[in-house]
Amino acid sequence: MNDIARHLADPATASLAASARSACYIGLMSGTSLDGVDGVLVSAADGQVFADAYLPFPNDLRETLMVLQAPSDNELHREALAANALVRVYAECVAQLLATAGLPASAIAAIGAHGQTIRHRPGEFDGIGYTRQLNAPALLAELTNIDVVADIRSRDVAAGGQGAPLVPAYHQAMFSDAGETRVVCNLGGISNVTILPAAALGQPVSGFDCGPGNALLDGWAARHLGQSYDDGGAWGATGRVDPALLAALLGEPYFRQTPPKSTGRDLFHAAWLDARLTAFPKLSPVDVQATLVALTAQCVADDVLRFAPDCRGFYACGGGTRNHALMQAIADRLPGVSVATTDTLGVPPHQVEARAFAWLAERCVTRQPGNLSSVTGARGPRILGAIYPR
Ligand SMILES: Nc1ncnc2c1ncn2[C@@H]1O[C@H](COP(=O)(O)OP(=O)(O)O)[C@@H](O)[C@H]1O
Ligand SMILES: [Mg+2]
Repeated sequence: MNDIARHLADPATASLAASARSACYIGLMSGTSLDGVDGVLVSAADGQVFADAYLPFPNDLRETLMVLQAPSDNELHREALAANALVRVYAECVAQLLATAGLPASAIAAIGAHGQTIRHRPGEFDGIGYTRQLNAPALLAELTNIDVVADIRSRDVAAGGQGAPLVPAYHQAMFSDAGETRVVCNLGGISNVTILPAAALGQPVSGFDCGPGNALLDGWAARHLGQSYDDGGAWGATGRVDPALLAALLGEPYFRQTPPKSTGRDLFHAAWLDARLTAFPKLSPVDVQATLVALTAQCVADDVLRFAPDCRGFYACGGGTRNHALMQAIADRLPGVSVATTDTLGVPPHQVEARAFAWLAERCVTRQPGNLSSVTGARGPRILGAIYPR
């Protein structure tokens, strides 16, 4: 039992509820990789992590979530049921976190539950557009008896922003440095960067989605290896990059758009790749994989060179850090930059996003803005999320 647990378990502790409710937050993140949920339980006081957990999605849930990325028949009904199924996994993750930390539900001020992005179309159609994270926060509050902060992106979209990325505010709080311009890069299903100018420069933080992270790599590995990802990037590392295919993939207009910008599986999906591969019928699957690694690395590195030319420290997080071929390909394209993971800065790569959503939940509960309008393009700072009380 840790100190907080001992404190909370002590019947003599005065105003237990009040002190408990300010003690800890849980962050739950399930990203565009559709692999599962990463959770952390952190102290509000100092950000110390008392527990982390990862629960992979059952295959049927993963498949349902994948299908819901595109329009289909009676999707409203299937979305609602998939949200219930997702939240049962979330609730299991919460139970594991509490058990590991030795804490009761009453010790948690709130859960920041990202939900599962199924559509991301900010700024489109009527000028506002929408971003949709499938979620069932009322059910999560019911199952856990903890306040839930959900729908964390929509307010930024309503204020004219992209609703993404939201993690840069947390990156700024955790990772910025007085003397060094740093880039923090999340290699999830989609890759995104946060540019943290050296504090002395007085420039605003920027950040945006670069393009595909693991999404295309995973899809190709599933099709040709029958595995949900290319473990360590070992398979892709045995292939040869095809320069003509790489050039064709890099022709995607999204890569040339100036920030603020964000993207998702709405754009970078299997059909996007297949359409470009028709001109390359003779390429072997392994060479395509090698070229997809190069694509991910190239769009990240190009953005660093273009938007953070004085960057000296590049810190990656997310599951893509386990793809050694990808990390090497990024390092090869950033000479003079120290390329490492956020472990170097004291935060394990798999915890960064979940910790960011615990932090965003706290910002909501304490009525503080969670977005950086310099990143999302929103009209200003906004308090993000909706609270579903326990
Ligand atoms: N051992 C590994 N080797 C290669 N890639 C991995 C490995 N472990 C995880 N990954 C990649 O990381 C992804 C999950 O990363 P994650 O940070 O959870 O992304 P997201 O936020 O999009 O869910 C997996 O889908 C896979 O592509
Ligand atoms: Mg994930």
